[in-house]
Amino acid sequence: MMNDNDADIKYLFEPRSIAIVGASHDASKIGYKVVENIVEGGYKGIIYPINPKSGEIVGRKAYATVEEIEGDVDVATIVVPAKYVYKAVESCARKGVKHLCIITSGFSEVGKIKEEEAITDLARESGMRIMGPNMFGHYSSSASLNATFGPRDIIPGGVAIVTQSGALGIAMMGKTFVEGIGLSAICSVGNKCDLDEADLLEYLIPHEETKVILMYIEGVKGGEKFVEAMKRATSKKPVVVVKSGRSKRGAQAAASHTGSLAGADNVFDAVMKQCGVIRAETIKEAFEWSKFIANNPVPRGDETVIVTNGGGIGVLATDACEKYEVSLYDNSEVLTEIFEPATPEYGSLKNPIDITGEAKASDYLLSLDAAASCDKLHSCIALFCETAVFNADELPAMVRNTYQKFTEKGKPITFSLFGGENTENAVRTLSSEKIPVYGDVYESVSPLGAVYRYRRYLENCATAVESIDLDVDAINSIVEKARSQDRFFLLTHEAQEIMRLADVPIPETKIATHLKEAVKHAADIGYPVVMKVVSKDIIHKSDAGGVAVNLLNEKEVLDAYEAIMRNCRESVPDAYIEGIEIAEMVKPGVEIIAGAKFDPAFGPIVMVGLGGIYVEVMKDVAFRSFPLDRNEVLSMVESIRSYPLLLGVRGEERKDIDSLVDTIIKLGSIVDKCRMVSDIEINPIVVYENGHGSKAVDTRILLSRD
Ligand code: ACO
Repeated sequence: MMNDNDADIKYLFEPRSIAIVGASHDASKIGYKVVENIVEGGYKGIIYPINPKSGEIVGRKAYATVEEIEGDVDVATIVVPAKYVYKAVESCARKGVKHLCIITSGFSEVGKIKEEEAITDLARESGMRIMGPNMFGHYSSSASLNATFGPRDIIPGGVAIVTQSGALGIAMMGKTFVEGIGLSAICSVGNKCDLDEADLLEYLIPHEETKVILMYIEGVKGGEKFVEAMKRATSKKPVVVVKSGRSKRGAQAAASHTGSLAGADNVFDAVMKQCGVIRAETIKEAFEWSKFIANNPVPRGDETVIVTNGGGIGVLATDACEKYEVSLYDNSEVLTEIFEPATPEYGSLKNPIDITGEAKASDYLLSLDAAASCDKLHSCIALFCETAVFNADELPAMVRNTYQKFTEKGKPITFSLFGGENTENAVRTLSSEKIPVYGDVYESVSPLGAVYRYRRYLENCATAVESIDLDVDAINSIVEKARSQDRFFLLTHEAQEIMRLADVPIPETKIATHLKEAVKHAADIGYPVVMKVVSKDIIHKSDAGGVAVNLLNEKEVLDAYEAIMRNCRESVPDAYIEGIEIAEMVKPGVEIIAGAKFDPAFGPIVMVGLGGIYVEVMKDVAFRSFPLDRNEVLSMVESIRSYPLLLGVRGEERKDIDSLVDTIIKLGSIVDKCRMVSDIEINPIVVYENGHGSKAVDTRILLSRD
């Protein structure tokens, strides 16, 4: 069912009428091209060109102003120079236009932030939504509307493209035509002064013609809304994303290009995986995947079979399956039963099925028909090496026939055809018919890998979100006290208090303000103990000689107390020393780093990795956006290279992974619910054997500067 908002966004893509403010009489101008594309594209609604000189533009009556129009206007596409845009928006507001697509450049992307804010505020006050400014317009197959200054030739189809780059978007429109990719919608988001990707997904998620959404992203702003929208989108249809800015230099270029901060790529990558987004590395790959997904079924199970007439390409395809995580069926009894009739004795009935170089079209048909009919097989990769015994003229018919059989059964199949001119021609012809035929083995496996990735996500995607009860007020009051002292970090004992409030196990700790008290605390806690100076003026305690470990008795505590005081007074003479912390000396276990932070692009993020002093060297960390389900936290922990240490190596017992997962959820909840806390990092959290929990040894908390 559609709510009001859905209905609104629907009229952006399926307007009943469109005004083009800045429609030009000059055929070389953008304002003419847009009208021409709308008219020639066969738009079903009413077209109102707006030009002060009125007259006729592309054979349509032009109006001097929007307000002169008698009927309602759902969309106004604005193509007047930047200095006239505000007036045009005012005029649209008076007319009661629903949506504005502002193609005009010259706003926040060139530092004209106030000008952009002014039109945004005006539109909001008048209940209008804005796409842009600084975009190339939009296309919608449902309305046969091409309100862009891009190419006219567009094939209607199942792929919706949302791009942060306008120029790339226009080029993509041309490329989809050449590649035979059908579009359901395409638009660039421009400066996103109002509508952003998440808003556009509102239309594309329920839009039936859209089978797959392809997004080109440079950076993400307002990531919490984005993540939520992406999760909703992938629960209904696949989303393929290409993000530039993987490299450090690329990220800097992207940040300056879009004016948005490109999120750290590893965080982006982790969050996209978590949302079930299929991330492509190149636009070519994204196009291939989208084309495949739009025209082929998602496999109903994991089992794939390779059928080949050549051993070499069979092995290459096996390698590609490993790379793209396509799993090969290996029940030899079933494989023999299915493929024996079409396989000579010297062939192979192990997957890849090798029907040998002697195979003719009839042999392919026999074995591929059998694969299509077998319920135990869910997808197929058919490989063909050109040979003299296979009549090349029969190749297209064999492929078409097989593809149809698989389609009827609701199973995906891809083909890799390798050979001379005849084969190359067959690849071109068949691929223009939207049959997934490729000239290279890896290319034929890659799109199947993409749908399998999506399928696995749907199977495993978590629905429940973990949440814990937190005494938010108590945490906030600790934070507020620190802020009242102009601090953006918490002292150790403050961070420990927050851990206690969140029920995160920490070593038993007491603070002593004099020698006698230190001795009493040590006895209460039990030997051995650790002692650390407590002072907001001494950040690097060890460097200042403010730490003593493994103290075994009263005498060692007395000596350490005096030594710490002396060392700290010498190295930081003006430091105010609040006391000395006496802590339980924790037993050794697996040292992990766990944390949570408020990411400027994505909101709350949780992190886990190999802890201790090698964090920076090993860089073995994983991230996820928060909130998330317990299983997703577990999968994040499992994804680090050091995970075997938690499972126990060389006969060690499995460690208390549940306790680590609990702690990560608690850290995420703190950052999620207490927005003044920007970063929490525990390094190390020592994880003990199963059932023995974990201990957060060193906790650092930073506060938000916003
Ligand atoms: N209402 C209606 N029409 C008006 C108004 C008005 N208030 N003011 C002017 N016009 C008319 C003009 O009379 C003119 O028509 P004419 O040619 O018949 O006289 C028409 O609007 C266009 O006005 P021009 O002043 O000629 O503007 P021009 O076409 O040179 O430029 C444009 C306007 C295209 C919006 C330009 O300012 C611009 O922003 N260009 C960049 C667009 C862009 O690249 N956007 C990003 C896309 S994404 C990417 O990266 C590719």
